[in-house]
Amino acid sequence: MVSIAIMGHGVVGSGVAKQKLFSAVGEELRIKYILDLREFPDSPLSDRFTKSFDDILGDIEVRIVVETMGGIHPAYEYVKACLSAGKSVVTSNKELVAAHGAELLSIAKETNANFLFEASVGGGIPILRPINQCLVANDVSEIAGILNGTTNFILTKMIKENMQLEDALKLAQELGYAERNPAADIEGHDACRKICILASLTYGKHIYPDAVYTEGITGITLSDVEYASIWGGVIKLIGSVKKVSKDKIDIIVAPMFIPNESQLSSIDDVFNGIMVRGDSVGDVVFYGRGAGKLPTASAVVADVIDCVKHLKARKYLSWADSDNSSVIPHEDSVAAMYVRVKANDKDEAYHKAEEVFGEIHLLKKPDAPSWELAFVTEPMTVREFDEKLRAFSSGDIEVCSRIRIGDL
Ligand code: HSE
Repeated sequence: MVSIAIMGHGVVGSGVAKQKLFSAVGEELRIKYILDLREFPDSPLSDRFTKSFDDILGDIEVRIVVETMGGIHPAYEYVKACLSAGKSVVTSNKELVAAHGAELLSIAKETNANFLFEASVGGGIPILRPINQCLVANDVSEIAGILNGTTNFILTKMIKENMQLEDALKLAQELGYAERNPAADIEGHDACRKICILASLTYGKHIYPDAVYTEGITGITLSDVEYASIWGGVIKLIGSVKKVSKDKIDIIVAPMFIPNESQLSSIDDVFNGIMVRGDSVGDVVFYGRGAGKLPTASAVVADVIDCVKHLKARKYLSWADSDNSSVIPHEDSVAAMYVRVKANDKDEAYHKAEEVFGEIHLLKKPDAPSWELAFVTEPMTVREFDEKLRAFSSGDIEVCSRIRIGDL
């Protein structure tokens, strides 16, 4: 019999407690403790609840601890204490892994424990294990994905139902997809944490979220959604990491125009999709439910079972700490850009756009207001684009939107 404890009885934790726990290695699994400060008198597991972390830490029978509390504190202190005591930890907490993954993995290595976090990226989609095991023979040149279910749900509602962003967010919150503080979703921080975890695992060095240029979806309007469609695509919030040289990566989270031909363009609602580009395998795309109680819980439980299978032999999962020096400055990143402006004289603005940006692709929307001009530039560095945009937007030209074109 292997005893486990679950810290946190929120959306994911209560989903884990409800899962049929089984083990492929013939060991019986038992939930001995559930840590939560709230009372759950009606739960069938009401006798397992505790408010004291010390009950879990001090109990040598507890070999595996599930952390589904979310946030950094006290999750970080609790997870660190469990790993230091030689208990294996499974977490769905992407904020924790993105902030402290290297340190926690190193403690797990020292105490011969496992620290697994499959559910932290892509909810129920297997992605970390495939990268760490099945695709490990590949030199991965790029990973790009729709990594946040809430924003994908919101953008889908805007694209398909013409719904305003605020209304779609309310709906996502009701469905339990959004973070406690939904700003983490709509401002791109959640997707940033996830692409950092993917990059750290793939390239072997911890990438911290503050090194990553991150832009959310709050500035996206229904008008931009329409222009994306006229261009031949859709707007998606993309987390992307590209290997640009032997030891440098270009990593970004931003809304992007994605062409309809891209495999990521048809990934809608709360679904996530992650494309991994390997030198031997080519493109592999992982698709599934990226948020929600049971999909995420299923990934947590699979990690618990993997821990049971590896109680004596540590699984190889590790990356080194780093100072983020492998990340190229955002200004050196290259992309074509969509620009929408307000101009008193549209013809004059068009000529000025050609003069400043060189070749541009004009986007014509039949019902566009007389003052609106929208176009797509050729690819250039962010530095070059910013300089050109400054030169272009002088006088009576006001920039309303600028969105990256994703070459996916
Ligand atoms: N808020 C997150 C999302 C939950 O919407 O993707 C899953 O990590």
